[in-house]
Amino acid sequence: MHVLVTAGPTYEPLDPVRFIGNHSTGKMGYALAEAFAEAGANVTLISGPTNLPDPAAARIRTQRVETADQMYAAAAAVAPVADVWVFAAAVADYKPAQAATQKIKKDGDTLTLELVKNVDIAATLGRTKRPEQYSVGFALETNDERAYALDKLRRKNFDLVVLNSLRDAGAGFRHDTNQVTLLEADGRVTTFELKLKAEVARDIVRTVLARLPHHA
Ligand code: CTP
Repeated sequence: MHVLVTAGPTYEPLDPVRFIGNHSTGKMGYALAEAFAEAGANVTLISGPTNLPDPAAARIRTQRVETADQMYAAAAAVAPVADVWVFAAAVADYKPAQAATQKIKKDGDTLTLELVKNVDIAATLGRTKRPEQYSVGFALETNDERAYALDKLRRKNFDLVVLNSLRDAGAGFRHDTNQVTLLEADGRVTTFELKLKAEVARDIVRTVLARLPHHA
């Protein structure tokens, strides 16, 4: 079995020394890569800039990228031959319309940046998904969470969406723990306790493997 995992933030350059990014640490994506490898899968981990070392497991091949466009290109190259896709990256939704070739000087009192929408990696690859392939996405919502998460599942052609809770103090961004609810295309809903991301990853892997023919 071959699993594609995207992880971490993307950095969208403004000029040679600045970028637009976010606080994703990559921990959840790396934990998923490790958990799939532990379960015997070969993993391609496509990682945005993180402070985490490349996972040591021989079954995990780590590819480093910076921007959403680079992450998309790397993921698109692997997606056709992967059985499972896991989109754990916090991709920047927008990028600067132009990256300046020289450092931007502080000439004026205000600075207006024009941003353009980035490629939606999960949605774009979702349109190429074959029936035997299985796609997992993440959702972080502040309100009407299940409805929005299910809408994301449909729009991006996910088979399963991992809904991160914002209600628990230790969950999500910049934490070692996470509290998730798994929503599946067929309507199944499974809620887990707050636990270490490594354990959350094992719960997700167990669920995915149980859904794949030949791995139940
Ligand atoms: N995702 C992606 N490429 C993007 C944006 C998101 O692959 N350019 C993936 C994420 O990895 C995640 C899922 O899509 O698995 C949901 O991301 P999210 O940012 O919550 O969804 P958006 O479509 O950006 O919706 P929103 O309007 O809520 O920001």
